[in-house]
Amino acid sequence: MVAKITKQTQFDAIIIGAGACGLMCAVQAGYLGKRTLIIEHNDKPGAKILISGGGRCNYTNMYASAAQFISQNEHFAKSAFAQWTVEDTITFFETYEIDGAEKTLGQLFPANGKAKDVVQVFTDLCDQLDQTLWLDTKVTDISKNEDESFTLTYERYGKTSTINTDKVVIATGGLPISKMGATDFGIRTARKFGMKIVETAPALVPLTITGKQQNWYEQLSGSSIFCRVWNDEISFEENILFTHWGLSGPAILQISSYWKPGESIYIDLLPHQSILDIITEEQRTNSKQLLQTLLSGLFTRKFAEALGLYLPITKNLATLSKADLETINNLIHTFKVTPAGSKGYDKAEVMRGGVDTNELSSKTLEAKKVPGLFFGGECVDVTGWLGGYNFQWAWAAGFVIAQNL
Ligand code: FDA
Repeated sequence: MVAKITKQTQFDAIIIGAGACGLMCAVQAGYLGKRTLIIEHNDKPGAKILISGGGRCNYTNMYASAAQFISQNEHFAKSAFAQWTVEDTITFFETYEIDGAEKTLGQLFPANGKAKDVVQVFTDLCDQLDQTLWLDTKVTDISKNEDESFTLTYERYGKTSTINTDKVVIATGGLPISKMGATDFGIRTARKFGMKIVETAPALVPLTITGKQQNWYEQLSGSSIFCRVWNDEISFEENILFTHWGLSGPAILQISSYWKPGESIYIDLLPHQSILDIITEEQRTNSKQLLQTLLSGLFTRKFAEALGLYLPITKNLATLSKADLETINNLIHTFKVTPAGSKGYDKAEVMRGGVDTNELSSKTLEAKKVPGLFFGGECVDVTGWLGGYNFQWAWAAGFVIAQNL
């Protein structure tokens, strides 16, 4: 049963979702003397922050710029990133005694803390700045009233109620990991207001191999190799990890955001050396050596043995034919993989696609067609690489929206 609508005047805005974007938005609004109500359907705020970076939270990347984001409009995020920079993120956390330590490739983690300390910064600030947080409360619908205000329908303690507000922030994240609270609320709300959606897909996600090939990958499960992985659009140099069902590891997660079903990806297993140069050199000094022995030195014994399916590993280097060398060169430097699919939203770190950026002002993140309605964070078609980029977008979006509430 829907209760009577009560006009709430004590909040300047209602933020739906106490994730990275919603929490930053509430705190920044608080600094400006505005009061917000944050509605979160989990029993705690920042669920994804808590599990991020293996519980350590890779909260930004020193080299973040619009170039590390996928969006139909590659320029869209530039305004938000100019308004809230990486330096701003670093300074913000330093103010609350979280100093950054670079792990690799510009990825910043709390030097002496964990992800829970990052969430604590926000919950403490929400308290200090008099922002209200309702947990265990799910917003199920939003409608716009004739006086331009919004009515939110929500479920709290088994009861359905409504609340009115002049400004609404949709910070409900993307589709990955529904058991952690992910919903399609952002997409659904945008559609309801006639806004376009860029097709969504799991991103930063492991890729699967099925059929005859699967056994080959399975035997290598646990092996990790530093590679260059590429497709028509982009290339990444990081580790790949073989698993029972296919491929994972940072380089695979990165390329997965640019991969579409049916497409192939390519792997250079020896990105900074030439296998033909190595063989030529070894043929001069140790030509009786088996190819398998040479490959065991470059990779692991297990991997060299597994390459026996494709390469003449029992031949010694002196007897390799021109055709053999061509096969070896192709396989080592252009290893082709055609994934069957991805591990899906249950294992994805982010969602690609989302609310079409053409529907939003890049300066304020307000919906062009629906004044007073803002979208930020993962529900928008701005998807970052692996490495702290997605939080940088969520913080920046939260900051930008707060300036306009
Ligand atoms: P986020 O998902 O954080 O928050 C949305 C909130 O809205 C959730 O709390 C949800 O419960 C709530 N909600 C949804 N629908 C609702 C409704 N109808 N009513 C009420 N509440 C509702 N990124 C990075 O930069 N560095 C990292 O180290 C990692 N690591 C990482 C690990 C793993 C395992 C995952 C799955 C993801 C990451 N990420 C990451 C990505 C990062 O977590 C993600 O990009 C941000 O959390 C997105 O922030 P948002 O605030 O947009 O959504």
